[in-house]
Amino acid sequence: MHMDEPPKDQSDPAYMKTLPDEYLYLVICKGGAAVGKNFIMPKFGDVISDQDIRDIIVWIRTFSGT
Ligand code: HEM
Repeated sequence: MHMDEPPKDQSDPAYMKTLPDEYLYLVICKGGAAVGKNFIMPKFGDVISDQDIRDIIVWIRTFSGT
């Protein structure tokens, strides 16, 4: 898999504070291409529920304590 840039560190609080929950929701629901990130990031909105996405956002935030 080719990536122009290495993936960002989701355990870095300084970085994660720049990403609103609305953005994290969008990238998980609609995929990377929908937010200008790598298209290899799949969209999960067709296969998991709204509540699942909200739960995943809470889980992702635990990596950085944000
Ligand atoms: C549990 C499933 C997954 C979740 C919750 C998830 C979540 C996320 C989130 C929140 C981002 C945005 C990160 C940012 O903007 O810094 C992201 C980006 C990305 N994801 Fe996923 N992802 C999942 C699965 C996958 C899979 C299966 C792939 C590829 C095989 C993938 C590849 C990528 C790539 C390449 C990016 C762009 C990274 C960057 O530009 O920094 N993801 N993902």
